[in-house]
Amino acid sequence: MTPKVAIVTYSMYGHIDALAVSIKAGIEEAGGKAVHYRVRETLPEGVLELMHAPPKPDLPLITPDELAKFDAFLLGIPARHGSMPAQWKAFWDSTGKLWQSGGLWGKYAGIFVSSGGLGGGQESTVISTLSTLVHHGIIYVPLGYKTSFAIQANVDIVRGGSPWGAGTFAGAGGSRKPNEQELELAKIQGSSFYLTIENVTF
Ligand SMILES: Cc1cc2nc3c(=O)[nH]c(=O)nc-3n(C[C@H](O)[C@H](O)[C@H](O)COP(=O)(O)O)c2cc1C
Repeated sequence: MTPKVAIVTYSMYGHIDALAVSIKAGIEEAGGKAVHYRVRETLPEGVLELMHAPPKPDLPLITPDELAKFDAFLLGIPARHGSMPAQWKAFWDSTGKLWQSGGLWGKYAGIFVSSGGLGGGQESTVISTLSTLVHHGIIYVPLGYKTSFAIQANVDIVRGGSPWGAGTFAGAGGSRKPNEQELELAKIQGSSFYLTIENVTF
């Protein structure tokens, strides 16, 4: 049966959501389909205004019950002090029933990230999220190098992402946009992820 894939993101300024578009294109290129959800905002309106956050995109909100309907997930996570933001943590903290029942056990997940800058914790954001996956029994699918060696080996261009997953840099003040290499890496992650899970029996 064709695996059901959800792309789930939290994105304050749109960088993660821009990568999500490429991730989805990659999944579709590989013959799959994905539904894009967003994680519920937890900050008050006034704080979001002070942070110059734009209005949220028109995406369905993820809930634990909705997540459990999918076989595999691609999780878009912007760095906060080198790990996941409180909005993502609040979502995972609401999955106690699924954790107890093993409702996500044996499903698959890949992770893509964004950070302000180089050394800002792209890899640590993925690695620290693995603890959540492990406790749920979710199988982590890395990007690796095989399908994106040329992009990852090129150190002449400033680029986010790593074998842990695609990534982009927002820059100081968030004004930088994902570049061609970052969007391509995200697309490759989408297609590689789908090709990894397409023959798994769920
Ligand atoms: C409270 C806070 C903590 C942050 N911590 C980090 C960090 O540890 N490293 C980093 O490079 N950027 C950090 N940033 C910048 C965000 O990672 C950046 O705004 C985000 O990746 C942009 O993605 P988005 O547009 O999808 O929200 C932080 C931003 C905020 C508001």
